[in-house]
Amino acid sequence: MFLISAFAVISCTPISKREDDKNIVKSEPVSDSHSYSNHHEIRTEHIHLDLDVNFDNHIIYGVARHRMSQSNVTEAIFDMKGIEIQKITLGKEIEKETEYIIGESDSIKGAPLTVEITPGTEHINIYYQTTRETEALDWLAPELTAGKKHPYLYTQGQAILTRSWIPIQDTPMNRITYSADVKVPAELIALMSANNPKEKNPEGRYHFEMKQAIPAYLIALAVGDMKYTSFGSTCGVYSEPELADQCKYEFVDLPKMIEVAENIYGAYRWDQYDLVILPYSFPFGGMENPRLTFANPTLIAGDRSLISVVAHELAHSWSGNLVTNATWNDFWLNEGFTVYFENRIMEAMYGKEIADINAVIEYQDLLASIEQIEKSEHPEDTQLKLQLEDRSPDDGMTDIAYVKGAFFLRTLEDLVGRKKFDAFLTNYFDSHAFETITTESFIQYLNAELLIPNDVTFDTDEWIYRPGLPNNCIKINSQRLTDMEAWAEQVNAGEAVFTGDYKTIKRGDRVTQEWQAFVRKLSPEISKDVLIEIDNRLKLSADANPAIKSDWFILNVKAGNTTVRPYMEAYLIKIGRRWYIESIYQALVDSDLKGDREFALATFEKAKGGYHFVSRSTIEEVLK
Ligand code: BES
Ligand code: ZN
Repeated sequence: MFLISAFAVISCTPISKREDDKNIVKSEPVSDSHSYSNHHEIRTEHIHLDLDVNFDNHIIYGVARHRMSQSNVTEAIFDMKGIEIQKITLGKEIEKETEYIIGESDSIKGAPLTVEITPGTEHINIYYQTTRETEALDWLAPELTAGKKHPYLYTQGQAILTRSWIPIQDTPMNRITYSADVKVPAELIALMSANNPKEKNPEGRYHFEMKQAIPAYLIALAVGDMKYTSFGSTCGVYSEPELADQCKYEFVDLPKMIEVAENIYGAYRWDQYDLVILPYSFPFGGMENPRLTFANPTLIAGDRSLISVVAHELAHSWSGNLVTNATWNDFWLNEGFTVYFENRIMEAMYGKEIADINAVIEYQDLLASIEQIEKSEHPEDTQLKLQLEDRSPDDGMTDIAYVKGAFFLRTLEDLVGRKKFDAFLTNYFDSHAFETITTESFIQYLNAELLIPNDVTFDTDEWIYRPGLPNNCIKINSQRLTDMEAWAEQVNAGEAVFTGDYKTIKRGDRVTQEWQAFVRKLSPEISKDVLIEIDNRLKLSADANPAIKSDWFILNVKAGNTTVRPYMEAYLIKIGRRWYIESIYQALVDSDLKGDREFALATFEKAKGGYHFVSRSTIEEVLK
């Protein structure tokens, strides 16, 4: 056989452009342990996708046409997982078949696809199809959509699932532009993280262009019965027609939010900002696919109280999409910066009180996560910089990257003052735009541009390379949450629930996060009667929004109140958002109450058909 050559031995040591510029000799190798690709030797610059989306057999038939960089090598290595290759050709006008080898498959990374080329090869065309094992794709039957008339398909690429529907160099270190021609059933519309149609095409044919270079994990596709609600010339919402009116109300602040974000960290560089509301199975609150954030319908709370998720995904247009983590060990550079920026947007839009309420709830989540991670198999996961070699990059999706990351930045801001900090971050986004960055180059940049010029001593290493939460972490308080907690303490102490200031309180009198603080502070020791009384008045089981419901159901499991089970079951069947359901399943598994575990297993059996692979596999782990 050709190949299986020495590519593993030639370890190349790229030095980021910035370090090069400044003549910094430190030249640590940057390698991404989650990709097989040899992108340091030859890389995809542009990919064109020809896709035929078949809803009858749930297969995408595709050709991935890679335009490669100049090189002298004789093989190009791509990532693939759960797809079938038909043939691979070289050339543009005239295509000629070439040899390839699919290496041994790993349960996390998939397999290397090594293609034989000649030095100078520019065009590699991979003919392929997806399979039942394609993890990125969620094919939904009509019953699982809002309209219940048409099927739906969406993809989820982050962290390393793009390789399961496109054979590609699936590392965030390589940025590519892309275009696509997509064929779908005529009654559906296709949308991508690119320029999008506003209306259906009668033949079901769509052409897309993404002219800004992005990492592979941001290539995304959604196909369904959708219509566009415009909020002006550069932003709007795609949703099933049944949800359009609700969306119009819930997301009306979108144009203002973009303006506010631009005022903080500079121009929005992606021209258009739209949302697409996916079905309930979507495993995340939101996903920052460029130009088109994918969003969970749980965001439609009816009172605009979950809009911070949109602020978060919009913020990724700077942190993550413009400046991208080089590897999944540097994930906090995406999420920590984004949570920080999200909070700044919330403050500018709705005031400091609301922003602080959000931050305090997150801080509670962080403390709980630290406690949990410290007890786990990987206590070192409380460091910002992760070591995920041989592990799923998904393991890094914890409150550490998000909230410890954000508190790191808040602590720095507090130290140097907002003015200097904002100038620093604006320059950071600007000078690293459309690049990837490692934690180590960020630290160099931080030292050179913020800490040294301002003569600040700060133990960056403690925050980034050591576990737990440093003592200098800034504290944020919220009187409104403290009040709710004090009320919960009264209830815990045995006082009547709805007396005094709370005599006539209704759910609408407080925002989501205030109810979360109240529920989280209630003791699992309180009686079932009290829980039932609270539920009767506040209707938490029956119709609170999902963020409150998750905390409420967990409390009831811990307290052994099984009267909420029918609501909990309906909730777990309807919703696939991982963070919301995972903690409920976990509470059921941890419970000593007879029947809770069985209830979890039985509910999962009913629900799993409606979960995306990401949530299904996480819950399977929990139930093991
Ligand atoms: N990029 C993430 C989602 C993600 C992370 C998908 C890692 C796959 C791997 C997205 O921006 C996100 O953070 N979503 C959160 C929103 C929240 C923090 C406001 C979610 O889904 O809950
Ligand atoms: Zn995020």
